[in-house]
Amino acid sequence: MTAHLYEIIGGYDPKLPLDRASTIPSSWYTDKDFYELEIQTVFSRSWQLAGRLDQVRQPGQYVTSDIAGEPVVIVRGNDGVLRGFFNVCRHHAAAVMTEPEGKAAQLRCPYHGWTYSLEGELKGTPDFSEVCNFDRASNGLARLEMAEWENWIFVNLDPDRRTSLTGFLTDDLVQQIKPLELTRLHWFERRHYSFDCNWKVFVDNYLDGGYHVPYLHKGLDSVLDYSNYMIENGQHHCLQWSPIVTEGAEAQTGAVRKGDRALYYWIYPNFMINWYDGVMDTNLVVPRGVDQTEVIFDFYFPDVVSDEARRKNHASVEVGQRIQDEDVAICKSVQRGLNSRAYNAGRLSVRREAGEHLFHRLLHADVSHGLRG
Ligand code: FES
Ligand SMILES: [Fe+2]
Repeated sequence: MTAHLYEIIGGYDPKLPLDRASTIPSSWYTDKDFYELEIQTVFSRSWQLAGRLDQVRQPGQYVTSDIAGEPVVIVRGNDGVLRGFFNVCRHHAAAVMTEPEGKAAQLRCPYHGWTYSLEGELKGTPDFSEVCNFDRASNGLARLEMAEWENWIFVNLDPDRRTSLTGFLTDDLVQQIKPLELTRLHWFERRHYSFDCNWKVFVDNYLDGGYHVPYLHKGLDSVLDYSNYMIENGQHHCLQWSPIVTEGAEAQTGAVRKGDRALYYWIYPNFMINWYDGVMDTNLVVPRGVDQTEVIFDFYFPDVVSDEARRKNHASVEVGQRIQDEDVAICKSVQRGLNSRAYNAGRLSVRREAGEHLFHRLLHADVSHGLRG
């Protein structure tokens, strides 16, 4: 098994410069053992989005998610402090909170009714009085490392993690995002998309420097200045940006994609922030199997209250929907091709695909480090 994984990882040379590099080999997208390795390394050791701050403003508000297959819950305590826990009951491991979000006075497990305070301490244990040597104080919910940035909450499952969230994001990225004043935008709607492909097919597609836009997304293409599309790699992120053109814009897209530029930030491994003037959406790419991926889109706008603004916001979300529908089909097609004996790896465009090159090298570093232990 390990030899098999070493062989797969050895199929990629991260030292080659972009003009000589190839993509990661197709087995990285199709092999089940490699997929498991990614879950145990890439997803279990990186900072992962676990919720939005707007979901947990008040004491008792909570949000649940699963990170690398493990259930987590973020909850604001009565003391106003936000805490992250494994959402795993200390009795027999059921998920304590089962809704995606909500507000509760205490955290009660639905299985046998054990209850925990909002601060995670074990409080109620029905029919447990005769149990010997049971230390209630050490049976609170297990804590989880958590950090906030802009509109979001991130968690990290790795007890030996190497960096803080801001250390990982780097000062460079934090300073680039700050002037956008993202916290002035309000969450409007969430949509879930399923892709019949490995999670990296979606990320590669996102990071191709606009290469596919003129061919696949005619509406979007009409508002972007393709020849001036720029790609700037950071340490763990890639910014792709494009001036926006209004002349000749396709009507539906032009009406909701304004301002002078579009910014597309990808943060390793699976989070994206897409920003236009007054419009933002984020994408969280969640692996659901070696060839299944869920992408969670959150849409944000400056005004989510007035009828007039809500109408416009809906129109903007619909444009996003059309672009995703166009990507769903191509991602499925790529996954099928990756399974073909005729394909192993492909070359990268120097003009367009520097972001993918960064992604593949970061991934290589993570899985090789993970395999060595
Ligand atoms: S598993 Fe939670 S109370 Fe039994
Ligand atoms: Fe696309």
